[in-house]
Amino acid sequence: MLVSSVLSIFSLVILSACSRAVVIVPGATWTDTSGNVIQAHGGGILKAGWVDLLLSSDMVSWTRQNDALTPISGSMISTSNIVERPKVLFNKVTSEYVMWFHSDSSNYGAAQVGVATAKSPCGPYTFKSSFKPLGAESRDMGLYQDDDASQTAYLLYASDNNQNFKISKLDSNYYNVSSQTSVLSGSTLEAPGIIKRNGRNGARPTQ
Ligand SMILES: *[C@@H]1O[C@H](CO)[C@@H](O)[C@H](O)[C@H]1NC(C)=O
Repeated sequence: MLVSSVLSIFSLVILSACSRAVVIVPGATWTDTSGNVIQAHGGGILKAGWVDLLLSSDMVSWTRQNDALTPISGSMISTSNIVERPKVLFNKVTSEYVMWFHSDSSNYGAAQVGVATAKSPCGPYTFKSSFKPLGAESRDMGLYQDDDASQTAYLLYASDNNQNFKISKLDSNYYNVSSQTSVLSGSTLEAPGIIKRNGRNGARPTQ
């Protein structure tokens, strides 16, 4: 059983390498164009990507670039800290790319978000700060940018020891949150995302 599933994954990789078929295989290991495994847990995709940056035009073939964000010793992005789930938004007013990520201490006790900015989507990103949004914990997080005139953006996050799921509006430059929009109390949700369909927004956390 194990052998056959390994073989089938192997053949799919070969097939894709030989025919350049544009196929995404759910659950299979993704590698970059040099064969390195992509660490994409909670990763983000920006349509235009020690935070790895990979570029792709077809979502199948990924070329590794210089790191978008590099560690700074003595800060919340030192090599002993945790930087996960990077998401990038473009702010059309400031013409900046703003990265938000889950920023934590090695034991996940800090429960913060981090913000970094760049003039190019590929970076390098300059770390601004890590903080608890509106003073509350943030663990699994996502971002949502609306398509209204001012492209209002929101932070979606598991807060209060993962008990309450919150949505807070970002300020106009996307550096901070300005107000809490919504809270689902006692919902214990993870890995949030929002989609907009037929003019209506919907949240679909994975758990
Ligand atoms: C974010 O805004 C809050 C006020 O809502 C403020 O207390 C806090 O210092 C700001 N954080 C950053 C990193 O600017």
